Amino acid sequence: MPQHGQSADVVVVGAGIIGLAAAWRARQRGMAVTVLEREVAGRAASHVAAGMLAPVAEVEFGEDARRGLALGLRSAQMWPEFAAELQAATGIDVGLTQTGTLLIARDGDQARELQRQLALRDSLGLETRRLRASQAREHEPALTPTLHSALEVPSDHAVDPRRVLDALREACRATGVELHEHVRVAQVESDRTGSRVTGVALEDGWPIQAERVLLAAGAWSGEIGGLPERCSLPVRPVRGQILRLRDPAGAGLVRHVLRFEGGYLVPRPDGRYALGATVEERGFALRTELGGVYELLREAHQVVPGVSELEIEELCVGLRPGTPDNLPAIGQGALGGLVWATGHYRNGILLAPLTAELVLSLLAEESSRHAELLATCSPLRFAEERRQEGRHATLSPPEVVT
Ligand code: GLY
Repeated sequence: MPQHGQSADVVVVGAGIIGLAAAWRARQRGMAVTVLEREVAGRAASHVAAGMLAPVAEVEFGEDARRGLALGLRSAQMWPEFAAELQAATGIDVGLTQTGTLLIARDGDQARELQRQLALRDSLGLETRRLRASQAREHEPALTPTLHSALEVPSDHAVDPRRVLDALREACRATGVELHEHVRVAQVESDRTGSRVTGVALEDGWPIQAERVLLAAGAWSGEIGGLPERCSLPVRPVRGQILRLRDPAGAGLVRHVLRFEGGYLVPRPDGRYALGATVEERGFALRTELGGVYELLREAHQVVPGVSELEIEELCVGLRPGTPDNLPAIGQGALGGLVWATGHYRNGILLAPLTAELVLSLLAEESSRHAELLATCSPLRFAEERRQEGRHATLSPPEVVT
């Protein structure tokens, strides 16, 4: 438990990959950092994530997606160094595998869609190559013989998020971040003028004073009290169910990350696999349900018949944090000293190194270095939208006090 009257330079709410990565960076810069986690560190969405680093495979049509691509590509570039730094600091290998990704088409309709996806990536200058069925099977002999074709994305890789979380936790401990688990934050506290944070109040009423508060509580980030409407953020939970599988024969059934209609199969170096994931808008209910899991298994089996011989180790469920445009909210909120780092939706693992860097630049008051990326992620964009829609016509514009 935090001590009575405790204070810190920065209080981080949430000990998932985003909160811990940012806490580590802030502590490395000499800030006194306290992290508060409502349950167990790294046991929510980060524990369930498959760990794909897939900005190219995941790119979609539309302007928002292009802005997201810029973030994803930048963070993907940072991953090898981030992984090496974590390993050097903790001795933990985070399982970065750089074997690329294949997007699979099983039939003519899916192949036409892949052609459209190839054209999109070509127009964005992204390296992607069409493979005939025989070429795809040379890469991955376990693919179904009835395969139609595939796209190869050589630059999209994967890490093992559970190892990353182990490493981050250890790196935080070793640098002197104070981490408290099973501690719930009731609200953000602000000064008498309501313009600047002064810390947080815990559910049992204890305050922790801080110059800055970083809200990195994933899908729960919008649930923290004490923020006036103009300072709140519309974050919603998006449920994902995912299976953890293990090949008793060891590694080698599949080497690339495989993506197919409705799912993906991510191999780990030790013969384990993540097979995911459903994308369901069902509020905060953390239920596993047969329908979604059945679809995943059916699709995976049609693409790689050998999956039927894998053992099921776990069925996991988690909540991704989504914003209205599904881009992250990273930046100064409409309250001095309040910083957001949430809304990473399907890309929390991918975007962790970049998010930590952006948050550090804000905390260290060096944000001009990342002005363009921070503009893309500004949490204030939703307040702006609300104002333009006229739904909050009586509210004055958010006042930004840094
Ligand atoms: N990034 C994959 C997922 O969220 O399912």
